[in-house]
Amino acid sequence: MQIGIIGCGKISDAYFNGGKHAENLNIKACADLNFEAAQAKATEHGCEAVSIEDLLNDSEIELVVNLTIPRAHVEVGTQILEAGKHAYAEKPLAERLDEADKLMAVAAKTGKRIGSAPDTFLFGHSQTARKLIDDNWIGTPTSGTAFMRCAGHESWHPSPNFYYDLGGGPLLDMGPYYITSLVNLLGPVKSVIARTNRARDERIATAEGIKGQRIPVKIDTHTTGVLEFANGALITMIMSFDTHRSAPENLTINGTHGSLNIGDPNNYNTPPKVFCPGQADWMDAPTTHPDNARMIGVVDMVDAIQNDRPHRASGELAYHVLEVMEAFDVSSKSGSAVEMKTAPERPAALPLGLREWTADSSL
Ligand SMILES: NC(=O)c1ccc[n+]([C@@H]2O[C@H](COP(=O)([O-])OP(=O)(O)OC[C@H]3O[C@@H](n4cnc5c(N)ncnc54)[C@H](O)[C@@H]3O)[C@@H](O)[C@H]2O)c1
Repeated sequence: MQIGIIGCGKISDAYFNGGKHAENLNIKACADLNFEAAQAKATEHGCEAVSIEDLLNDSEIELVVNLTIPRAHVEVGTQILEAGKHAYAEKPLAERLDEADKLMAVAAKTGKRIGSAPDTFLFGHSQTARKLIDDNWIGTPTSGTAFMRCAGHESWHPSPNFYYDLGGGPLLDMGPYYITSLVNLLGPVKSVIARTNRARDERIATAEGIKGQRIPVKIDTHTTGVLEFANGALITMIMSFDTHRSAPENLTINGTHGSLNIGDPNNYNTPPKVFCPGQADWMDAPTTHPDNARMIGVVDMVDAIQNDRPHRASGELAYHVLEVMEAFDVSSKSGSAVEMKTAPERPAALPLGLREWTADSSL
């Protein structure tokens, strides 16, 4: 399938690189509000730089990957769908649920699909964790922790303002990795009770090129809460940009027979570990699925479109994750638990026996 990319910033390299491995898609063209950014990526990765309008009018392109900033996700997604193409976007699906509603309505009207990052839950270590849970290695999941604690992104990102603006913050930035992984492992969230605050109203950038730049903080930068899953599990969550020294990323699930440590659901750079009573220490689980990297969600979506099956990194999943994240703010303000209105099915586990960068129909 011929695909296009809109948004040629920092994360786009991961997608261009993933596209070189994928067998079922070809990145034909890329575009950006800033045409020079598109030209630079087109030269580096070997595709055509075009205007956004030309990309949307290209009848050969069937799916567009939207890698713009969160503020533009719905606007650009709407343009893609209305141009008659499937839309896959970086996370979050939208800054707010009411915006996401509009995007979902356009998809329903045009009959085109919405896909959304993160696709990290399709990486080998995450699918291994899913298999361990499904095969009952830890028994019935009852509790767990989802912690991401760092000092913020102004020390490395070349244009970090959006992380501190409406639609930014640690929860909308990093929460999708943790919550999507958890929904993949445990099923949908039933309710959320949470509190949020912020340590500072202004940040000073320390990244090369923007050192000393003042960044106004318009959102809460420390969020903490409890996710009650429909299966009864209670997950304690902290997403914070207010930790001076970063702590190891942590996603852990405790079950009736054992515990599962999944590490960092953004990168999955360590294999999942299992601990059951009687063992001396954590045991690394043998990985059951190939590694993969960002873009595997698009590979799966293309395979799903071509074979008329649901894709895994779906708009419905991303919508539920956004509903959970928005509930943190609502619960913090009201002091009450917030019940979720949506309850998507867990995406199907990836089958065993796949090669890297392939999906179901390659078996
Ligand atoms: N940087 C990372 O490490 C990282 C990792 C994972 C996910 N993401 C996500 O990827 C997305 C992009 O992040 P980034 O870090 O690449 O941002 P960035 O600021 O580096 O790049 C965004 C690009 O989108 C373009 N753009 C903005 N609005 C546009 C519009 N309306 N139409 C066309 N182009 C537009 C900008 O000109 C810019 O080139 C965000 O949703 C972010 O959450 C980023």
